[in-house]
Parts: sequence; structure tokens; C-alpha cells
Amino acid sequence: MRVRDAARVFDVSAPFLNRLLERKPRVMLHAVNGVSFDLHRGETLGLVGESGCGKSTVARLLVGLYGLSAGSITIEGQPVTSLARPEGRELRRRVQMIFQDPYASLNPRWRVGRIIAEPLLVHKLPVAKTPQLLAKRVAELLEQVGLSRLDASKYPHQFSGGQRQRISIARALATEPNFLVCDEPTSALDVSVQAQVLNLMKDLQGRLGLTFLFISHNLAVIRHVADRVGVMYLGKIVEMAPKANLFTAPLHPYTRMLIEVIPDLDHRGPPRVPIAGEVPNPLAPPSGCSFHPRCPFANERCKREVPELFEAAGGSSVACHGIEEKRIPEFATASVVL
Ligand SMILES: Nc1ncnc2c1ncn2[C@@H]1O[C@H](COP(=O)(O)OP(=O)(O)OP(=O)(O)O)[C@@H](O)[C@H]1O
Ligand code: SF4
Ligand SMILES: [Mg+2]
Repeated sequence: MRVRDAARVFDVSAPFLNRLLERKPRVMLHAVNGVSFDLHRGETLGLVGESGCGKSTVARLLVGLYGLSAGSITIEGQPVTSLARPEGRELRRRVQMIFQDPYASLNPRWRVGRIIAEPLLVHKLPVAKTPQLLAKRVAELLEQVGLSRLDASKYPHQFSGGQRQRISIARALATEPNFLVCDEPTSALDVSVQAQVLNLMKDLQGRLGLTFLFISHNLAVIRHVADRVGVMYLGKIVEMAPKANLFTAPLHPYTRMLIEVIPDLDHRGPPRVPIAGEVPNPLAPPSGCSFHPRCPFANERCKREVPELFEAAGGSSVACHGIEEKRIPEFATASVVL
């Protein structure tokens, strides 16, 4: 998958008449603002960042749920924007998404068997030809995610949160996709259950050769699953690095800040140290580097000039003037619990 300068703008203006009467301008929110990356077959790319930085919007752009305002996204050369059109059907079968809240995304009035069978029927796959074949495939899918074939006749409310997320995973796998976009798939779950679901996903990835884009605001979760990590801040990727680099030698001051407050996967309660400063209003992003109001290394250039991603050492890319100018000291790993 190749993503180039992907952008998504939302029109969040007041209704037309109000704007006219109150002489208010149109208001545009740049949720994703020029994001580029490649995703290779079989790898897991983690996307991390605070609430509102545009992670879910990226996910929805990748699976074709939102249209692009600018830029391009292609899978094996085929544009993802075509997912909404009939000729995008095959691509749509191969790219599936798992959402954060397994309850909201499962129809409460349908039995689990029907929920999992639905994508097979929609895509008119060969197994959907007879009820027997369909039931057999549903049973297979349930067992693949560690549930019982007898669960097909139950309703979503009869399951725990973790089991419901397993049902979502079974449904996502039904069409034999090779690319899964997982948007905070375990954030709504208890920590112990979270680890089980993450392990299941890793196991399935190994067995089925899946490619994952894995979104989480939790770096401990990302550390558990990702091969490479992209750090997002206000609609942009500010650092992209192999996992080992990101956790031992983070470059961007924002990445360092996230790593310093990282909770353990089994850490309960609030983070040990709160992140300094607040996320700025995305409707009025700061000039230059949008992180400058929170950055201890900000200077005049940072306030003026938007930093672009450049290749730094060890396969990392970073968008930071301070790193480029070599005026930011190396990260002291001693403070990190790895
Ligand atoms: N459909 C929409 N209409 C208007 N604004 C939107 C829409 N979807 C997202 N936004 C805005 O775009 C920005 C990015 O939102 P997004 O949901 O992508 O962030 P996120 O990183 O997934 O956050 P979270 O961690 O809270 O899920 C936010 O400011 C959000 O309010
Ligand atoms: S560009 Fe400047 S303000 Fe932005 S992160 Fe780097 S040093 Fe800090
Ligand atoms: Mg989100």
C-alpha cells in the first residue's frame, strides 16, 4: 500500500443561513494534512498519537470509507478511492477494518452466525452458494478466533467484550482479506483481555500472512504488535521508525514525550507522568511546527517554518528542525522502562 500526501479536510462551518446572517466564514478542519508512507506485505505498521490527531481519519481513508481531499492511496497500484465503486469490489474484499467498539459495530438483533456470514453473502463468494457451505465456513471462522461453532446461534449481548471483538475479527476475516486496518481494536477492553486479543491477532497474522495497520493511542500496545511505528501530531506524521529505534532512540521531541509517559500493558490507572501541555485546537493550528508551543527545543525557525519529514539515521524519518540542525541532545534511554 502506498500513501502519498494524503489529506482530508472536513467542512465544520455553521449552516449556510447562520453564516450569512452572522457573517461567519467557512470553517475547514484539516484532520489529515499531507501524510505519506508505504506499507509492505506482511508487516504491521503502528500509528500512534493523542486523541484528535487524525488516526481514525487515516484508517477510514485507507479502507475507502472517506474520500481523499488531496493526495493518493494505492494498493498494488490500484487507487483506493475506487473502493466505493463496483469495480472496487475485489479490493474491498481484500481490505477490511476492525473498529474500537465491538458492541457498536455488531448488529444486536442478528445472531452471530448471520453477522459473520453477511460479508460472504455481500461479496457473493462461492461458499455463500448453499446454506450448508455457509454454515461450515462460519463455524471455521469462529474456531479460528478461539470461539465455538455453537456460538453461531447466540446474540452479541451474550458475549463478553473480548469475545465480541473476536466476533468482529471473524467477520473481518470472512472474505479472506490480506490487509486489516485495526482502529484501537482493544482500547475498550480490560488489560488482561486486551493482551489475549492482541496475541490472537498476531497469531492470525502469522498464519494467514496478513498486513496490518494498527492504530492505538497506547504506545505499550503498539510496542506489542508493530514492526514499524508512525507518530502522528495534528494531522501529520512527525516520525516514522522501525520499532526498536522508536523505543530506544526516539528523535522527535513529541515521540520522546510519549515514550517518557508510556504505561505498561498491565499498568492500571492514570499514566505515571502526565503529558506536558495540551493538544492545540485543530481549527487554529499553531504556525510553523505545530508542536512548537509544547516543545522545549522550539526556536524562531520552528514558529515560522513547517518542518518536512527527512531521513535520519537508522531508517528513521523525522520532521523536526532541531534534529536536522543537530541541536537536540540524544535521548537518555535510562528513564524508559523497556
Ligand atoms: N466526520 C467528521 N466531521 C468533522 N470533523 C471530523 C470528522 N471526523 C473527524 N473529525 C475531526 O478530525 C480530527 C481528527 O479526528 P480523528 O477521529 O481522525 O482522530 P483520532 O486520532 O482517531 O482521535 P481518537 O484517538 O480520539 O480516536 C478531529 O479534530 C475530529 O474532530
Ligand atoms: S521543529 Fe522545532 S518546535 Fe517542532 S519539534 Fe522540532 S525543535 Fe520542536
Ligand atoms: Mg480514533
